[in-house]
Amino acid sequence: MSVQPAEAATEVAFPPGFVWGAATAAFQIEGSTTVDGRSPSVWDTFCRQPGAVVNGDTGEPAADHYRRYGEDVELMRDLGLGAYRFSTAWPRIRPDAGEPDSRGLDFYDRLVDRLLAAGIAPWATLYHWDLPQTLEDDGGWANRDTAYRFAEYAETIVSRLGDRVVSWTTLNEPWCAAILGYAQGIHAPGRTDPKAAVAAVHHLLLGHGLAMDVIRRHAPGSKAGLTLNLFPVVPADPGSAADLEAVRRIDGLQNRLFLDPVLRGAYPEDLVEDLAPFGLADHVRAGDLGVISAPLDLLGVNYYRGYQVTGTPREGTEPGGPAWIGAETVAFVTDDGLPRTESGWQVQPDGLTDILLRVHREYPAIPLYITENGAAYPDHEHGDGQVDDHDRVAFLDSHLRAAHAAILGGVDLRGYFYWSLLDNFEWAEGYAKRFGIVHVDYETQRRTPKQSARWYSQVINHNGLG
Ligand code: FCB
Repeated sequence: MSVQPAEAATEVAFPPGFVWGAATAAFQIEGSTTVDGRSPSVWDTFCRQPGAVVNGDTGEPAADHYRRYGEDVELMRDLGLGAYRFSTAWPRIRPDAGEPDSRGLDFYDRLVDRLLAAGIAPWATLYHWDLPQTLEDDGGWANRDTAYRFAEYAETIVSRLGDRVVSWTTLNEPWCAAILGYAQGIHAPGRTDPKAAVAAVHHLLLGHGLAMDVIRRHAPGSKAGLTLNLFPVVPADPGSAADLEAVRRIDGLQNRLFLDPVLRGAYPEDLVEDLAPFGLADHVRAGDLGVISAPLDLLGVNYYRGYQVTGTPREGTEPGGPAWIGAETVAFVTDDGLPRTESGWQVQPDGLTDILLRVHREYPAIPLYITENGAAYPDHEHGDGQVDDHDRVAFLDSHLRAAHAAILGGVDLRGYFYWSLLDNFEWAEGYAKRFGIVHVDYETQRRTPKQSARWYSQVINHNGLG
């Protein structure tokens, strides 16, 4: 796919001031996991469990960003990014969830200053899954106390950077942290206990609410919100009651379980009932939902794909399994004919328009930002400084058009962050999946902007697509 010439008329124009960014997360790019006082996180431990992570990969060397952040900010500047979404590592800021360590704080301080000097707005996420292992040893997110420890950590980092960070995100994708980590066991800490997962959902949300209060007190000039991974869920057969029931359950666990308490101040009644055997209501204390539903300045939406579900498993479907607590009989349609990324995820740009329109329609008005959207493809850098990732360019193009369609539909969408700036450690997939618009050679740590980076840079420059 060719890059549009600069003089081409912009046909898909985004609103003035639309934020163009890229996202990363601490554990996925930093490396240097044992320096400057950083303590182990649940992901360091999980990576050492045989078979937990593809190839036995670990958080080392990742993209060595802890040492190369200056070079990476220069790359961002060259691409013309207006904002950079990164996460701060709890085990660097408060190793072992104990006293603050100034060396960890100093790193993010330098990063933020470097970004500002390059004209890039710093967007910080407080929790992108690197829980200090010591807290997991005490029960992790299944233990209510972790929410209060999270607020303490938030206070340390927000009071240090709150005068310069433009926007704070409390949690990234609590669904993954709670459900993949505590019920399905494919993310750290690798537990397979649905009751613990349900407790983790509530305690993560409580931590979010407590951190919102910290941000309001210590960074009154910053914006603050939460990032959820939302999925459009449709029935295989809209005429089938079993399929509609499957939609209710999956949409409930994936979307409404998080949207409702945060934006409406209550867990959905049908889910409270579904999850009664797993004890959801037992964890909710008086006042919790008031804390959890503290007003947000924005909601971050991470979008990768949608689900087509059925209540009658058959050939061409795959069972939901333990990620779908209380809905194990639901199945996901696999023979939907959609193209797939290297992760096996359907390429489904319309789903992005749908989910944005749905949040706009069903929840109180709130500015939305796409805080992640991206794709893994098997890119190769042949030593000539070129990575022709036309698949990723096509993915980006279609999803940006889908985002624009949502704006035309009335959605107050204010920005887009591509996942990810750099190739990185893709959780249980290790380094095998590359999502970056910048290629990383993990042997030499050489960075090579891919064709998609150049293409995205043009989009940013035009504030739209030709
Ligand atoms: C999201 C995560 C992010 C990355 C992308 C591919 O669920 O937030 O860290 O792994 O998926």
